[in-house]
Amino acid sequence: MLDDIAAARDAALEQIAEATSLDDIVRIDQDVLGKKGALTQLKTKLGSLASHDDKRAAGQELNSAQREVSEAIDARRAELRATARAATVAAERLDLTEFVTAPRRGHTHIVTQAWERLEDVFTGLGFTVAEGPEVETDWHNFEALNMPTSHPARNEFDTLFVDHAGAPAGTTVLRTHTSPVQIRTMLTLEPPIYIIAPGRVFRRDTPDATHMPVFHQIEGLVIDRDINLGHLAGTIEAFTKAFFGEGFTSRLRPSYFPFTEPSGEFDIRTPSGEWLELGGCGMVHPNVLRYGGIDPEEWSGFAFGFGIDRMAKERHVVEDLREMFTGDIRFSEQF
Ligand code: DAH
Repeated sequence: MLDDIAAARDAALEQIAEATSLDDIVRIDQDVLGKKGALTQLKTKLGSLASHDDKRAAGQELNSAQREVSEAIDARRAELRATARAATVAAERLDLTEFVTAPRRGHTHIVTQAWERLEDVFTGLGFTVAEGPEVETDWHNFEALNMPTSHPARNEFDTLFVDHAGAPAGTTVLRTHTSPVQIRTMLTLEPPIYIIAPGRVFRRDTPDATHMPVFHQIEGLVIDRDINLGHLAGTIEAFTKAFFGEGFTSRLRPSYFPFTEPSGEFDIRTPSGEWLELGGCGMVHPNVLRYGGIDPEEWSGFAFGFGIDRMAKERHVVEDLREMFTGDIRFSEQF
């Protein structure tokens, strides 16, 4: 009997060691320890042994053989599982780091560079950065900026209207300029206000060398007591020198915008004496202050706005604005 037990145990251990799959393990487990398994069968024969001592000795031997086989099965199963998992991982591995040549560190797009430098310069002059949504209400984009529905100045803005759940048709637009951030800021902050608002704007325009339907502007708004045109001119001049360099200077020209009175356009003069038109500006119209919940008798202010892409284009002498929106690395990496 003891020999049979040892033989069954050794045969089982040998099979376990040779098992190459989890299926093998399941089968061996059944063949040896299952209901009809080799060791289980031997147990049923214990009763046929003659003496009590023989039964006890064989019983103990059987128990330890079962334990040994069971432990060997567990250990081998764990090994095979680990191997199977490693094989799956290896088979499903996706190498996302593969590169053919050594990777190069990139840099921000020239529009982002201009945007960030503008923020740096204006925060240096004491402004904070404000934001507004790109999908805007007609009210913020036009009405509150002193452009009622029939106002002819609306014609200059090639507006993209959007469907907006719950809002009546024609009352939601992709903002045509960053000026609505003036209104949103006045409605949330108490004066004095000194903010700039860079952001993306949209017009129904066909792309060409100098126009894109999506572009970027930066808005400025100052509201304080006794603000006058001199403060506006001084701020534009300080900005021009800080951003472009000491050799540059600026000028204001009369112009018209519904949301400012008086309104102007400002140009900068390069060291070689060339004048470049930069943007619009003016003293905030009393109606606009009122729409923003600010008393025009107590407060006054100025505002300005200009294109960021244009500045990047001028600075880097990019011939065609469309180049800046291709996402072509051969373009971006030149700057
Ligand atoms: N929003 C104007 C535009 O897109 C630019 C502008 C002009 C902004 C005068 C201003 C301003 O804040 O005072 O053409």
